[in-house]
Amino acid sequence: MAGNKRKASDDAAEMSSQPRNERPLGEPTADSESNTLGRSKPGRPSPPAPGVAADGYFRQLYATEPDFKQLARRDPQFAVVLQSNGQLDFSDPAATMQLTKTLLDLDFGLKLDLPGDRLCPPVPNRHNYILWLKELMDSTSYEKPGRKLCGLDIGTGASCIYPLLGVTQRPWCFVATDIDTKNLSYAERNIRLNGLQDRIQLVSRSAEDPLIPVTDMGSDWTIDFVMMNPPFYDSEEDMLSSANKKARPPMSACTGAPVEMVCDGGEVAHVGRLLRESLVLQDRIQWYTSMLGKLTSLETLVEQLRHHGIDNYAVTEFVQGKKTRRWALGWSFGPMRPSEHVARGMKASLWRKILPPSVTAELLVLPADRPVNPLTSRIQEVLGALELMSWIWEPEAAKGFGRAGENVWSRAWRRKKLREQHEGQGNDARSSITTVSEDCRLGFEVTVAVGRSETRVNLHWREGHDALIFESLCGFLQRKLKDINEDK
Ligand SMILES: C[S@@+](CC[C@H](N)C(=O)[O-])C[C@H]1O[C@@H](n2cnc3c(N)ncnc32)[C@H](O)[C@@H]1O
Repeated sequence: MAGNKRKASDDAAEMSSQPRNERPLGEPTADSESNTLGRSKPGRPSPPAPGVAADGYFRQLYATEPDFKQLARRDPQFAVVLQSNGQLDFSDPAATMQLTKTLLDLDFGLKLDLPGDRLCPPVPNRHNYILWLKELMDSTSYEKPGRKLCGLDIGTGASCIYPLLGVTQRPWCFVATDIDTKNLSYAERNIRLNGLQDRIQLVSRSAEDPLIPVTDMGSDWTIDFVMMNPPFYDSEEDMLSSANKKARPPMSACTGAPVEMVCDGGEVAHVGRLLRESLVLQDRIQWYTSMLGKLTSLETLVEQLRHHGIDNYAVTEFVQGKKTRRWALGWSFGPMRPSEHVARGMKASLWRKILPPSVTAELLVLPADRPVNPLTSRIQEVLGALELMSWIWEPEAAKGFGRAGENVWSRAWRRKKLREQHEGQGNDARSSITTVSEDCRLGFEVTVAVGRSETRVNLHWREGHDALIFESLCGFLQRKLKDINEDK
């Protein structure tokens, strides 16, 4: 079965697939040894405690080629399944299951017990989803990154992998559901094995129940985000032929059991159910998300979102190795816009048509030798003169946040204001405007980033549903800052 055997270097492509972040990679904190969940083993660096300080550690996991020989040195159980030539036989369910257990143990300090006839999750792929979710939730709040959140994992599987990975990285709690009794009993065992009973609550469902267990959670429930890795196939034949193509034993831990992998209508129907439930619950939950196994499903579901007038959504792709890709889709009824990197995580121009509107616009680029003070003063002067709901400049961070109740930089607005003043109504324009415009139509951030060769001023759309008002502010600020570029 040589064709099924992959080298560590092949697997490295799979493992180096996580979404890259433009921010510099952090490192585990120097005191991470002492700052752990108490899962360290002698001679082994420990995973850091959950929180934003640990993001750098978790972001760089699987970014470089995994060294199977080193894994075998660190985990004797992995040494047992590693072949003498340093390769792992990916057609052997026992070997892939051990890889999952070893990575969870070494990189996250997590223990796992799995049956042989249920899905065994590949860790890098599941980790990618959590990395994306962290950025999604961080970038759609004015609070500091790393807030306490509660997630709902629909179809958690025997591993309970998403809640385990989530609570290891952030101060999150989870409600996790499944319809399969064997999965539920193993999920419970895995929660206990890791002492996480107070952070992860299991809820048993039937296939006919709503996906979101609203009635089981009491009246004062709080769920901030939903995540889901839905049954992928729409028939058992479909699943078996896919397993055959990969030359994997059917119904093994690699492929999963039919109850886990098959549902009527496949993943489009399953996510379609979630969409219908979200149309009722609206912004009771901030983000509804799902992983997808087929690009065509993503296209169909984005069409459905647009059909329902949902403008605030995010798409991304997770690349595993040379052949395997997965996608994720998230949508929100709330006004907070995810960052560019999170919302438009598909690079190929071919897919531009399914992306949500851009949320970052370049206002100005200056050579690095130009002084920055006149630039930041101009930004403050221009935005400070507008009748915004709020405008705050943070000098140390060289960025400012503003919120506008309406398009107060437009000529039409200025004409209206003059007319009101003329008619004796608008003497105190700021108070009259803020009272009629309690609702924020645009929340934005202006950043000044001084690099080695240039200084960049960007405008970021943080809040609101109206792409045109964002574009309009962008044009206005570009005109107002233009002559700074011309000043010598
Ligand atoms: C593809 S598996 C994902 C398992 C795990 N989350 C992972 O990523 O490895 C899909 C899971 O959804 C569960 N499932 C199927 N229909 C469901 C439903 N209506 N409600 C909740 N879970 C469901 C299956 O039993 C299975 O565990």
